[in-house]
Amino acid sequence: MSTLSLGVLVSGSGTNLQAILDAVAEGRLDACVRVVISNKSDAGALERARQANVPVQVISHKDHAGRAEFDQALVARLQAAGVEWVVCAGFMRILTPVLLRAFKDRVINIHPALLPAFPGVYAQAQALAYGVKVTGCTVHFVDEGVDSGPIIAQKTVVVLDGDSVETLSQRLLVEEHALYVEVLSWIAEGRVELVTGAGRTTVRVKPP
Ligand code: GRF
Repeated sequence: MSTLSLGVLVSGSGTNLQAILDAVAEGRLDACVRVVISNKSDAGALERARQANVPVQVISHKDHAGRAEFDQALVARLQAAGVEWVVCAGFMRILTPVLLRAFKDRVINIHPALLPAFPGVYAQAQALAYGVKVTGCTVHFVDEGVDSGPIIAQKTVVVLDGDSVETLSQRLLVEEHALYVEVLSWIAEGRVELVTGAGRTTVRVKPP
């Protein structure tokens, strides 16, 4: 298998990006992050990328007429960087068919809940408000919906008495970081395949 060329889309602090950069630097993941793109100029993730000598680009959705135009700008930059797979890591925009067609079946996301429970923003707060005793994180393919694409892998996290959004989020992030790197290593090994049947597309992870 050849080294996986990644483009990472971010909006925030970038701890998932950091986990990926660390795994690459330590030889645990056969990948190269070709570019990190943020829609926010003050995203902490940008500094993490710079520290790792990864090219960064700020592309603000506010500078584009609509979501399709914004996605076209993302596609142009990702393609110019030679990206094969697009990794959303705390990227707070919904992608359109413009990007999803350009990178068909090669866009993934991480979500801090056990999808299909608690999609969208504030997943940890939704889980606490509902009173679930177990939550977790999900890595999934991105489709045109909100956190609705085929699920690749999930990890559970027990909700503790007295958990706040902050304490739960911190424990979730630990699992997110490990899970995202693990899934990317499966992709690098060519082991992740989409399977369509009975009106639904699901994911099969082939054995090593
Ligand atoms: C993570 O909880 C991720 O699941 C969600 O946004 C958060 C991003 O955190 N999509 P970070 O920017 O990777 O630290």
